[in-house]
Amino acid sequence: MAENLAIATSAKKEERYEILLPQIESLISGESDLVANLSNIAAALKQTFDFFWVGFYLVKDNGGKQELVLGPFQGPIACTRIGFGKGVCGASWKEKKAIIVPNVDEFPGHIACSSDSKSEIVVPAFKGGKVFLVLDVDSDRLNDFSETDAARLEQLMRIIERTI
Ligand code: SME
Repeated sequence: MAENLAIATSAKKEERYEILLPQIESLISGESDLVANLSNIAAALKQTFDFFWVGFYLVKDNGGKQELVLGPFQGPIACTRIGFGKGVCGASWKEKKAIIVPNVDEFPGHIACSSDSKSEIVVPAFKGGKVFLVLDVDSDRLNDFSETDAARLEQLMRIIERTI
């Protein structure tokens, strides 16, 4: 397993993803534990992009009702449970697609875990056609996520789906 993460010196996000994704794939390919792998992925994303908050919410059963429960993350403490269709994370789960929010104040029902969060992207991962987790990335700057982030983070979700 790689012990150090190589981070592209380029300021361009696209090049950072280009260097990061193969490293994540090799980082998690020799380990079968979900929490260990998601923890390292959250850390690798934080180290590479210095996102304000980056982490996972996992679909879990709570007395017969499914909800998203906070998983491995990097950043300030966050809300622990999110219902189906609630907030950006719940909407991504319900709609089964990536959602980019340029300004969280303009997203109806946005769940503010921190008032410093200004823009956000959420991307789902699937098992047997069902969402089993979402990756949530928050920025303290407005309009910080583009289609490049969506495409690359979707690529990361495909790596997670086939490795985990
Ligand atoms: N803002 C998210 C909640 C999670 S925190 O941002 C970490 C949402 O609206 O679903």
